[in-house]
Amino acid sequence: MKVSVILAHPDPASFNHAIAQATITALKKGGLEVMYHDLYQERFDAILPSGEIPKDVVLPPEIAAHCQEASEADGFVIIHPNWWGMPPAILTGWVDRVMRPGIAYEFLEGDTGEGVPNGLLKAKSVIVFNTSNTETERERTVFLDPLETIWKNCIFDLCGVRHFHRRMFNVIVTSTREQRENWLKEVEETVASIFNETCMQHNR
Ligand SMILES: Cc1cc2nc3c(=O)[nH]c(=O)nc-3n(C[C@H](O)[C@H](O)[C@H](O)COP(=O)(O)O)c2cc1C
Repeated sequence: MKVSVILAHPDPASFNHAIAQATITALKKGGLEVMYHDLYQERFDAILPSGEIPKDVVLPPEIAAHCQEASEADGFVIIHPNWWGMPPAILTGWVDRVMRPGIAYEFLEGDTGEGVPNGLLKAKSVIVFNTSNTETERERTVFLDPLETIWKNCIFDLCGVRHFHRRMFNVIVTSTREQRENWLKEVEETVASIFNETCMQHNR
């Protein structure tokens, strides 16, 4: 079982990096293969060139490698802070370039792109870990929690990944060390329970 872990945060000392490390620890403990990308560290180029938009084109090797991993992944863990109700641009660029037609979704025969796409990812489960400085109630009532819709509906459900789990850790700026330590334990427990369960279903 292979799990793709995608992190988007520019600061190696950030809580997001700590979440990524806790995720990797839990996956490795469970004997899962980890495909890890720290997008800032690898300086992922988030700009989708127009030549890459058509379905059947030859991709640059680094994008082809990302696409190959996305196709092979049995699960995904996406980790990022809430920036203006969106993922950081480097991560939306990763979605633009990697979650591409023929890899993540396709339109059925006779559909020129206006219909409901068919998801192609083989992954069964995805976890999205977010951090923010907004209270949950305010995020839901004032901002309508856009990250939930983006990741659950617009991206993973469309690409065929049905088991979706998202956790927003908040409020980071006022959190205590003890609270952050407990959150990291929660990350490990969540990853272990979701991917062990998926592993078991997979092996049945
Ligand atoms: C460009 C930018 C935009 C942000 N927008 C939001 C926002 O819309 N809502 C929010 O709650 N926090 C926002 N924040 C705060 C971050 O979510 C917060 O700093 C981060 O989640 C803390 O995690 P870290 O300790 O890993 O950096 C923003 C921060 C930056 C730098």
